[in-house]
Amino acid sequence: MDEKKLLEEAILGREQAYTPYSKFKVGAAILLKNGAYIRGCNVENVSYGLCNCAERTALFKMISEGYKKEDVLAMAVVADTTLPCSPCGACRQVMAELLDKKTPILLGNMAREYKMTTVEELLPYSFEEIENAD
Ligand code: THU
Repeated sequence: MDEKKLLEEAILGREQAYTPYSKFKVGAAILLKNGAYIRGCNVENVSYGLCNCAERTALFKMISEGYKKEDVLAMAVVADTTLPCSPCGACRQVMAELLDKKTPILLGNMAREYKMTTVEELLPYSFEEIENAD
């Protein structure tokens, strides 16, 4: 897997960010086993609670295009941060459901610094089942 190419795809995703309120642009990219990339960006709203993170944009695009966790090789997130950008808690929970626990996740910044982690490292002991619900 070409980590630098994955990071550049996330940076391209970031270019589309719609951030009139925070001005904080985030990009994401998912590399599929078929070689295709699915990009994402954050999309904000004047009703702030409706803002959607770049990671979830990319993951929801992946599902809506008919792909599943088995089709994914890796994912990246990037922002103009000092340290490589780290996903919020909501995105970690969505990653835990829509990606395999072992999926490599690249956390990057605009200086092209990055760190590799996994879904499982980002959200250990994740909530997964509601089997015993009444
Ligand atoms: N944001 C993301 O896109 N991903 C994250 O993991 C953290 C936050 C977005 C949401 C909002 O548009 C802006 O960054 C500021 O929080």
